[in-house]
Amino acid sequence: MSVRMAPRLPLIFLLMIHGVSSAGWGVSYRHSHICALKNSSVIMSCTFTYPTGHQIEKVFWTKNTVKNADDEFPDLSEDPEYSQRLQYLGDKQQNCTIRLSHVTQKDEHKYCFRFRTNEDKWLGKPGVTLTVTDLQVEAPERVTEGHNVSLTCKSSCTLTDRATFIWYRNSQPLTERRDRNNQLLLQSVRREDAGRYSCALHGHSYISPAAHLSVTYPPRNVSVSITGSGVIVEGDSVTLSCSSDSNPPALNFSWFKENQSSAVGSGQSFSALQSGRFYCEAHNQHGSQRSDAVTVIVKGPLVILHISVGVICGAAVIITMLIWRSRMKKRKNTLETQMNHSRPDHDRCTGSDVESTEPIYENVTMNHSRPCDVEMTEPVYENTVHDKP
Ligand SMILES: *[C@@H]1O[C@H](CO)[C@@H](O)[C@H](O)[C@H]1NC(C)=O
Ligand SMILES: *[C@@H]1O[C@H](CO)[C@@H](O)[C@H](O)[C@H]1NC(C)=O
Ligand SMILES: *[C@@H]1O[C@H](CO)[C@@H](O)[C@H](O)[C@H]1NC(C)=O
Ligand SMILES: *[C@@H]1O[C@H](CO)[C@@H](O)[C@H](O)[C@H]1NC(C)=O
Ligand SMILES: *[C@@H]1O[C@H](CO)[C@@H](O)[C@H](O)[C@H]1NC(C)=O
Ligand SMILES: *[C@@H]1O[C@H](CO)[C@@H](O)[C@H](O)[C@H]1NC(C)=O
Repeated sequence: MSVRMAPRLPLIFLLMIHGVSSAGWGVSYRHSHICALKNSSVIMSCTFTYPTGHQIEKVFWTKNTVKNADDEFPDLSEDPEYSQRLQYLGDKQQNCTIRLSHVTQKDEHKYCFRFRTNEDKWLGKPGVTLTVTDLQVEAPERVTEGHNVSLTCKSSCTLTDRATFIWYRNSQPLTERRDRNNQLLLQSVRREDAGRYSCALHGHSYISPAAHLSVTYPPRNVSVSITGSGVIVEGDSVTLSCSSDSNPPALNFSWFKENQSSAVGSGQSFSALQSGRFYCEAHNQHGSQRSDAVTVIVKGPLVILHISVGVICGAAVIITMLIWRSRMKKRKNTLETQMNHSRPDHDRCTGSDVESTEPIYENVTMNHSRPCDVEMTEPVYENTVHDKP
């Protein structure tokens, strides 16, 4: 043997410099365990050695080291489950690297490299253990507004440190702060933070199933709605109902009359029988809020009697006024006749200096023939009356 080996010494030396022993049989894997994300591609890096002088006849990968009927390990590339997804990247001399794409949970096995030379064969044990994981969002079902919450993107095995997680809310990518690499931190949660959260790994197509986060908050926008105008006749009632925006929905309502400390009713609706200003208060486990007050006016029969009396009196007043007006008209016509005959001509004047209030009797005819300095503030007809002897 030594005789045969002697001339090859420089080659052996060269191979040893490169860290590959040509002294014997061996297979080494860069990773003995690989954690892969569902539907991703896995590269199993591998190198092998064999005694110098052997000729490689066959290289292949097998799983679970179970021999078939021919007392040989089955070649994965001939397995219909793998043939389309398996790619040999190595060189059949010392590099036995393969790639397996679109991995599924069914691919979780132990994979070994097998090779045969013209003289012997070798199985590279213990091989590579493949674990395939999906992603799950771990989040509380609900969080109260204003609290901090952390969502975790869980995998069943430890993915490489370089994996970068991406988060989505309602399928929209998020830019919120990350706590640790696989955690999303939501600070001082708002109502808008509620939604379906999912996570993914950068550069991978797989997206986790969504987890729903509900944001709870005390009642808001509490308001009372009133059927009709709020004005009712004694003996009737008016229904007030209370509405609010809250999560979980408010189921507990209290009714109050303004300036009265104790509640006058409960339940989402309330029948008001008396006049007053009423408001409601909606409660859930996170707090309560009160509405603005609404006014209810109950009109008793006395009020209605007053209204009737008022209508009759009003009618009487109008009739009286009409009679008076017609009498005044007659009297005016008489005055006009008198004035036209008795008023001297030089008392009549016109001009910018004359400040005259409009005569009440619009049909009093005045001769605007010349300007004058007389300031006439009194209605013409009054002067006329005073002038009367
Ligand atoms: C083996 O081959 C793969 C694919 O060509 C390459 O990426 C890898 O670096 C090689 N490994 C070694 C140890 O040469
Ligand atoms: C939320 O986190 C911030 C920063 O870490 C902290 O200051 C704040 O007190 C936290 N709020 C609650 C309600 O825990
Ligand atoms: C698997 O990955 C391919 C691309 O590599 C993508 O087209 C396909 O939608 C993925 N399937 C699932 C179920 O994520
Ligand atoms: C509820 O109240 C908020 C403010 O607290 C306001 O922005 C919003 O428009 C209100 N919604 C309705 C339906 O009134
Ligand atoms: C409704 O809320 C009031 C005030 O918080 C409370 O006293 C009462 O017990 C609550 N009722 C129910 C049925 O929860
Ligand atoms: C209730 O009291 C306030 C002062 O405390 C007063 O201004 C208001 O007019 C009162 N309302 C009624 C309906 O009595």
